[in-house]
Amino acid sequence: MTIVKETVHVTVNGIAFERSVEPRLLLSDFLRHDLGFTGTHVGCEHGVCGMCTILLDGRTARSCLTLAVQADGCQIRTVESLGTIDALHPIQEAFWEKHGLQCGYCTPAMLMTAIELLDANPNPSRDEIRDAVGGNLCRCTGYQTIVESIELAAKRLAATRTSAARTTPTSAPATERAKEMAK
Ligand code: FES
Ligand code: FES
Repeated sequence: MTIVKETVHVTVNGIAFERSVEPRLLLSDFLRHDLGFTGTHVGCEHGVCGMCTILLDGRTARSCLTLAVQADGCQIRTVESLGTIDALHPIQEAFWEKHGLQCGYCTPAMLMTAIELLDANPNPSRDEIRDAVGGNLCRCTGYQTIVESIELAAKRLAATRTSAARTTPTSAPATERAKEMAK
């Protein structure tokens, strides 16, 4: 039997891809095997462990429960969109400092979940953090250090926002300059 392939267009971490895929291909396999984003981990492959969590149009999604063809036209973010080994994202830095990982298998999912949480709620309570990461199974840490990592990340990101707000010039002088230039 010939399987008819379908064309999928996705943007992953800001890069546009077009691929021809079998309709049954899981998004997790598509990301890992077709596009090379192996930072997305796979555990149970039936929606229980949360290891395969990515951001699909800004919301966390289990990529093992999503078909690649369902992601057609979507913006995807994986853990590779965060920092590099030399320049960690504040959330990665906080996980490193607070020992928010042991084997690291759940870490990409935890980081992407933290991104979604802190975007929506920059100052979450411990209960809110526990609730957010509760869908991702961690077999190593007991979660305490993960919660502390996300708390620290929230503080760091808040400080970054405050200092950015302090250094951003108001629009008034720019408007005045524009008026001067228009004369
Ligand atoms: Fe997707 Fe477990 S691998 S939920
Ligand atoms: Fe090992 Fe979470 S650090 S599964």
